[in-house]
Amino acid sequence: MVSRVIPVHPFDLVLFGATGDLAQRKILPGLYHRFEVGQMPQDARIIGTARSDMDTDGFRQQVRDAIQKFASDFNKDVLDDFLTRVEYVPVDALGDAGWKDLSGALRDDVVRAFYLSVGPNLFPGIAKRLQEHGLATPDSRIVVEKPFGNDLASAKGLNAGLRACFEEHQIYRIDHYLGKETVQNLMALRFANSLFEPLWNATHIDHVQITVAETVGVEGRGAYYDQSGAMRDMIQNHLVQLLCLTAMEPPSKFSPNAVRDEKVKVIEALEPVSQSDIARGQYRADKGDDSYLDHVGNPDSATESFIALKAHIGNWRWAGVPFYLRTGKRLRARESEIAVFFRDPPHTIFPNVGPLRGNVLVIRLQPDEGITLRTTIKDPGPGGFRLSDVSLDMSFAEALGGDVRAQDAYERLVMDVIRGDQTLFMRGDEAEAAWAWVDPIIQGWEERGDRPSRYDQGSSGPEDALMLMHRDGRRWRQIGG
Ligand code: BG6
Repeated sequence: MVSRVIPVHPFDLVLFGATGDLAQRKILPGLYHRFEVGQMPQDARIIGTARSDMDTDGFRQQVRDAIQKFASDFNKDVLDDFLTRVEYVPVDALGDAGWKDLSGALRDDVVRAFYLSVGPNLFPGIAKRLQEHGLATPDSRIVVEKPFGNDLASAKGLNAGLRACFEEHQIYRIDHYLGKETVQNLMALRFANSLFEPLWNATHIDHVQITVAETVGVEGRGAYYDQSGAMRDMIQNHLVQLLCLTAMEPPSKFSPNAVRDEKVKVIEALEPVSQSDIARGQYRADKGDDSYLDHVGNPDSATESFIALKAHIGNWRWAGVPFYLRTGKRLRARESEIAVFFRDPPHTIFPNVGPLRGNVLVIRLQPDEGITLRTTIKDPGPGGFRLSDVSLDMSFAEALGGDVRAQDAYERLVMDVIRGDQTLFMRGDEAEAAWAWVDPIIQGWEERGDRPSRYDQGSSGPEDALMLMHRDGRRWRQIGG
C-alpha cells in the first residue's frame, strides 16, 4: 500500500537551537525525509539560528553530518538538493544581535513557522523578541518543545508568555508521542471501527495497562533528568496523552479542538492518586554499569528513574476501572504498549478444561507497531476438550508492506505545523490540567520524604511495582516477553 504524499505550502521554518541535539537528531533528519518523498515544496526554506557565529556553508556541513548520522537512510544527490534550502543566521535569542538579519531573511508570502528547539526558560523571551522585531505575523506559527514547565505555576507562566505575543491557534506544543503512527492508529481503531466502542467501558473492561519501558539510562542528560524524574519527564505528558486517547469520548469530528476538548475532559476527571498506589525506583549499578545516582552525579537524589501508579478516571464510562501506568529507564526491553484487559466471561460452560480468561487487546507502539488480540480457543486435535490462549496478531509493517520506511514522529508533526493542523499538539489548558493532576502527587511524596527503592538494570522495575498489581489480584504484562 503506497501512502499519498500531498505537498505542503511553501514555507520559511526558522529553527531556534539549530545546532542542538534534538534539531540534529530528529528535526533536521525529519525535514530531509519529507523533502525526499516530495512533501516539502521546492521553494521551502529552513533557516537555522543559534548563537554560534557560523555562516550558511558551515551550518550546511553540520546538517549534512547530522543527516548522514541520524537519518534512517539518505541519497547523496537528494541531500545536496535539500541543503540548498538550508540557511543560517546567527541570532542572540535574548539579546539584540541578529534579529534584523533574521527579519530580512524572511519572505512575506509563504507560511512562517518558528520552531523553538531550546529550553523552556527561553520560550517567553524569544516570543517577545519575535513580536518586537515584527517577525510574528498574525498567521505565523510558534512551535515549542517539551518540557512545558515543571509544575502548574511554571506552565501557566509559559502559557502567559506565549499568549502575550501569539494567539492559541498559532501555538504548537509538541508531545512527540502524538506523532507516533500507532498512537494515531489508536484513534482510528476506536473511532473508525464499530466493533470496539460498544465494549469500551467499565461494564466490559476490567483494567488498562500502559507501559513505556526503555533500555536507555539517563547518562548525558543527568542535570535535566534529576530535576524531573519519570513523573515529570514521561507521565505528565506522554503517558497521560496515551491514557487520554484510550479513555476519551468519541469527538464529534476529527478536528483539533473537538479532539482536544475530549482529552481535557479525561485529564480533568483523573482522581487524586493515593501514595500507596505509587511505586518509584532508581536503577542500581550493574556489572560495570553505573547507577542512576552515578549518572546524575547526585548521591542523595530522591528522583525516580521508574514509576508505576494506579489512576482512576472519575466519570460514568470508567468508574471503577484502574488505569495502571508504568515507565522507566534501564529496563529489560524497549517496549511501549497499551493493553486493554476485558472482563472474564461471566459463566463457563467448559468446567476444568483450561484457562477461561478475558480477552486482551494490546496496541503496540514500539517496537514493531501493531495490534494483538488475545483470544481463547479449543486446543486443536481429538481426544478431549481443552482451552488455550492464542493471539490474533497484526504487525503493521507486515500488513502494510514490509518495504515502507517507518516514519519518525517528528516528520509528521513538523508537516502538521506547516499545514496548520493542531490536532496532534497539546493545547495550553491540556498541559495545565496535566500538571494540576501531577503536582499534588509529587508534593505528596516530597512531603513524606519518600525515597525511590532500587531495581536491577535489565529488570521490570522494583518489587513495589509488582506488589501494586498483586494487591489488586492482577499481574503486569511481561516486559520483553
Ligand atoms: C522524551 C523523554 O520525551 O521521550 C526521554 O524526555 C525519553 O527521557 C523519550 O527517553 C522517549 O521517546 P521515544 O520516542 O524514544 O519512546
